[in-house]
Amino acid sequence: MHIETKCIHSGGYPDTQTGGINTPIFTSSAYGYLDTDVRLYQRYFNTPNQEAVAKKLCELEGTEDGVVFSSGMAAISTVLLALLNSGDHAVVQDEIYGGSHAFVEEHLSRLGISFTLTGKEAQTIEEAIKPNTRIIYIESPTNPLLNVVDLRAVAEIGRRRGILTIIDNTFATPINQNPFKLGIDVVIHSGTKYLGGHSDLYCGIALANKEIAALIRKTAANFGGSLNAMSCYLLERSLKTLALRVERQSQNAFEISKFLEKHPNVARVNYPGLENHPGHAIARNQMAGYGAMLSFELKDMTAITFMKRLKLIKATLSLGGVESTICDPATTSHQKVSAEVRKRLGISDNLLRLSVGIENLNDLVEDIQQAMKDK
Ligand SMILES: Cc1ncc(COP(=O)(O)O)c(C=O)c1O
Repeated sequence: MHIETKCIHSGGYPDTQTGGINTPIFTSSAYGYLDTDVRLYQRYFNTPNQEAVAKKLCELEGTEDGVVFSSGMAAISTVLLALLNSGDHAVVQDEIYGGSHAFVEEHLSRLGISFTLTGKEAQTIEEAIKPNTRIIYIESPTNPLLNVVDLRAVAEIGRRRGILTIIDNTFATPINQNPFKLGIDVVIHSGTKYLGGHSDLYCGIALANKEIAALIRKTAANFGGSLNAMSCYLLERSLKTLALRVERQSQNAFEISKFLEKHPNVARVNYPGLENHPGHAIARNQMAGYGAMLSFELKDMTAITFMKRLKLIKATLSLGGVESTICDPATTSHQKVSAEVRKRLGISDNLLRLSVGIENLNDLVEDIQQAMKDK
């Protein structure tokens, strides 16, 4: 099956009672156990709605097992603490989602786990490895600068050195990038973004082979960040249109990045689909599309003024919905990252991060154009 077909037909749970084509929503928090081998319980991550949607995601990313969480951060924190022990070392890319960065900074040392923050180049990542390194944690394309990591190269380093590789694949989505095919061991998504896609659902997902997923599931049951049946169903329903949405969003983003690149009031555009983007060649090699996120800096207008002048595109936290949204990462996604680190990474106070939706392209361009006029 092709991915568009998998979005619709993979996973799910058969409605044997009525023959209905949708997965029924199982609302119970108490399941009988006397006549079954499996003890169903939402916090054990094994209820019918959790499994129905996890199976679909496994098919979309191409792996064996998955655990659905109540947020992206629940997935990220659980995976890290499931795979790391006191005395271990982690190599972590420095330019990752602000919340993930904060989690690493605020919790790993406290638990006796050391870490090294590194740049995105495979060689730099390899140089940060120590004898006790257990994991390499990366994100690509990155939030908010859309930098690209060479996933094949990082996966090869992990295999050669016996270290697990973990990626946050939120920005790319399974439509544009399948890290398992490139050799990565664990794939995480904030499903709150593209997988949910309608800005009305919080969830996260961690995917891996059976062996690694069992470790994640065991820790997850202790931490308890599980996803309820209604949200699992909403996620499953949203995934049916994932390919359509992401393809349209990515096309719109590509066109908008070209428009912005030529605009006299734009100082810089970050989008991996642009030929002059430093990660373009790698992105072309490992992605099916360049995604629907881009960031840019204006020359003569503050980020706040520009966002306030937009009429259609809303300034919001979060991203990945069918509607286009915008934010300034310095005061939102990366507010917990120190000003010094933001400066080093290139996240200026004037940087704008645009999440492109499925609207008509001309309406989006018109909105941007009118907000930039007569500054
Ligand atoms: C790339 C990325 N990963 C993870 C997260 C965290 O996800 P959640 O907000 O669902 O916990 C976010 C949230 O913005 C994100 O952008």
